[in-house]
Amino acid sequence: MANSKTNSNGRANSSGSKSKSGSNGTSSKNSSNGMQSSQLMKLFEEELKDIYWAEKALTKAIPKMIKNATSEELIEALENHLAETEEQVKRVEQVFEVIGKKATAKKCDAMEGLIKEAEGIMEACEVGAMRDAGIISAGQKVEHYEIASYGTLRQFAETLGLDEAVELLEATLDEEKAADEKLTEVAVSAINIQASQEEDDEEEEEEPAGKKSR
Ligand SMILES: [Fe+2]
Ligand SMILES: [Fe+2]
Repeated sequence: MANSKTNSNGRANSSGSKSKSGSNGTSSKNSSNGMQSSQLMKLFEEELKDIYWAEKALTKAIPKMIKNATSEELIEALENHLAETEEQVKRVEQVFEVIGKKATAKKCDAMEGLIKEAEGIMEACEVGAMRDAGIISAGQKVEHYEIASYGTLRQFAETLGLDEAVELLEATLDEEKAADEKLTEVAVSAINIQASQEEDDEEEEEEPAGKKSR
């Protein structure tokens, strides 16, 4: 059974190789798809540079979000994810090692935009539950970008037969998903409710009879 399957499909990135059963011999050796592999490797490296920049930018952006947040639950979630993000930077460096390349960051325009947007939201929203809700919204957009990036990177690594990289990328991908879910939880549990109450309070403040409320 030398050539049980002849892959006549000339496309570089068909996602048909999902089954793990017989994918052992498909490393990036000089097989017929060697060209495709080297092109995919290039793309993999480019994506890696992009997310490396993004993660490093986030290690500076998340502390600003923490400073602007008021909900303890939100602050805790952000602090935890900041610690994770610092480890994720190192994980990306390890993936560079796996492919024998120097860790290099390349500016990620998308992440730069998401971070700018977060800063804009923090300026525009009043401090308190409103700003907290804004931070969550911006934070979730960031997480979704990361989930998309790491999902792609993991798939590329799998196709390229880079098992060690798959593990590293998947570990981060799981953290990004958990961070996103945590933010949803925080929003649902308290902040959005408080934000809507604050709005009600503002309306009440306009009435002159301002006895202390409890
Ligand atoms: Fe991250
Ligand atoms: Fe993240």
